[in-house]
Amino acid sequence: MKFVIATHNKGKLVEFQRLLEPMGIQAVTAQLSEPEETGKTFAENAYLKAAAACQETGLPAVADDSGLCVDYLDGGPGIYSARFAQPGQRRLTVLKKLEGVAEEQRGAHFVSAVCCVFPNGDRVEAEGKCFGRIAFQSRGENGFGYDSIFEQDGVTFGELSAEEKDARSHRGHAFAAFEQKLREYLANQQKT
Ligand code: IMP
Repeated sequence: MKFVIATHNKGKLVEFQRLLEPMGIQAVTAQLSEPEETGKTFAENAYLKAAAACQETGLPAVADDSGLCVDYLDGGPGIYSARFAQPGQRRLTVLKKLEGVAEEQRGAHFVSAVCCVFPNGDRVEAEGKCFGRIAFQSRGENGFGYDSIFEQDGVTFGELSAEEKDARSHRGHAFAAFEQKLREYLANQQKT
């Protein structure tokens, strides 16, 4: 079985290939147009991307959408995480907006939504979250995006190995839930 992964990010493709291969699914990419992310939630945006890719290719399509929600910023940047501030300035902008804000008010969480849309319109979706705080300064060279300013138990995601981050991250939780739901869906399909 072949699934198309709706992403231009090589890292995400590799992660999905690792997840889907043990289920006998070949994860491929395709030249896809990028739909406007007009959804109001991560789940809606993941669905929009997956549905567009499914329609364009005729294959089951998987997409994800993720971001950082900061309590002090009323949940921002949230679904705008990838478009918030200038590239290269995003972490610094969050740190600046939280300048002088006490530790107890620096709560934040990451969200990851994963969605698979099938040509018959069925969908399998899952969401994962992980909770922590915005650090007072950027620490750690690993990961990407906001990793070096997001900390749990005093350690930033930028200070974790990829395996350590997978074990506690929003994406790790979303993938685990998604894997279970997809396995159940495929098993049910075989029965009918
Ligand atoms: P998208 O899911 O490709 O739309 O991008 C979401 C944006 O949220 C990324 O550009 C990152 O800035 C941020 N983000 C999502 N997941 C993570 C993560 O695991 N670590 C750090 N930043 C993340």
